[in-house]
Amino acid sequence: MTHKFKGKKILVTGGAAGLGRAYALAFSAEGGHIILADINDGGMALVKAEVEAQGGSAEWHHCDMADEAQIAALGAAVCAAHPKLDVLINNAGLHLGEIARGFFGLGQAKWQHFFAVNTIAPLLLAEALRPALKAAKGVIINKSSMASYQPQTAYGITKAALNILTHAMAAQFGADEIRCVAIAPGLMATEAAERGVESDNWERIKAMQSVKRQGTAQDIANLGVFLASEEGSFINNQVILCDGGNAMRGFRM
Ligand SMILES: NC(=O)c1ccc[n+]([C@@H]2O[C@H](COP(=O)([O-])OP(=O)(O)OC[C@H]3O[C@@H](n4cnc5c(N)ncnc54)[C@H](O)[C@@H]3O)[C@@H](O)[C@H]2O)c1
Repeated sequence: MTHKFKGKKILVTGGAAGLGRAYALAFSAEGGHIILADINDGGMALVKAEVEAQGGSAEWHHCDMADEAQIAALGAAVCAAHPKLDVLINNAGLHLGEIARGFFGLGQAKWQHFFAVNTIAPLLLAEALRPALKAAKGVIINKSSMASYQPQTAYGITKAALNILTHAMAAQFGADEIRCVAIAPGLMATEAAERGVESDNWERIKAMQSVKRQGTAQDIANLGVFLASEEGSFINNQVILCDGGNAMRGFRM
């Protein structure tokens, strides 16, 4: 490792498991201090212990991304403790179950909840953290999905909206020299995906890829580290697919 994030601060939402855990371990391996935010306190405590076991440092904060007051409180606490925040990874998301089964028959409360967590929270948290991101000339990485390119589910629709929001955020936050990009993964092997995606879909989706192997959480963490690093610092205002060249640019569950 080159320790390219030594002395830098990285906040990962949804950091208690899956892709969020992979970002935490990857940025920590590069020397960064990890700030986890999630509703799963036990998961965050385990990830913090894993980060420390590899010689890194981490802290965790309970925060429900559907709750504006909790997001504001998290932003204030992080800005007070860390006047410079180098990387915000808006990774927390709802992606399995009802949100991934279409978009008819969902009432207003469900739609509002899905959009609150998947689309609006990334903006509200970035706004709350703007002073610290500005001080570091930091980068915001939103977590989209391949499903945003074929939004046949409420999930895909929330992520398609997040893609557009990423472009708007790049313009608005760019005034403070804060970059904003998004990563759109294909189907990646995380425990949640393994629990929630039916077994037939794994081979079907792999068959649509030009790269015929299973995508992993490490693939996504590697891309996040690159985009946030000095080597990726001329990349802004982009949604970057990491899906093994999936021909369909989407999937249905
Ligand atoms: N795994 C995949 O194949 C895949 C593909 C494309 C996009 N994504 C996106 O990547 C992200 C992570 O996916 P994952 O596979 O690691 O899933 P995951 O379910 O393991 O992780 C999601 C995390 O978000 C947290 N979370 C959920 N609701 C929250 C809330 N209201 N407030 C705070 N935290 C909350 C969960 O506790 C969990 O730790 C999601 O945004 C998902 O949409 C995943």
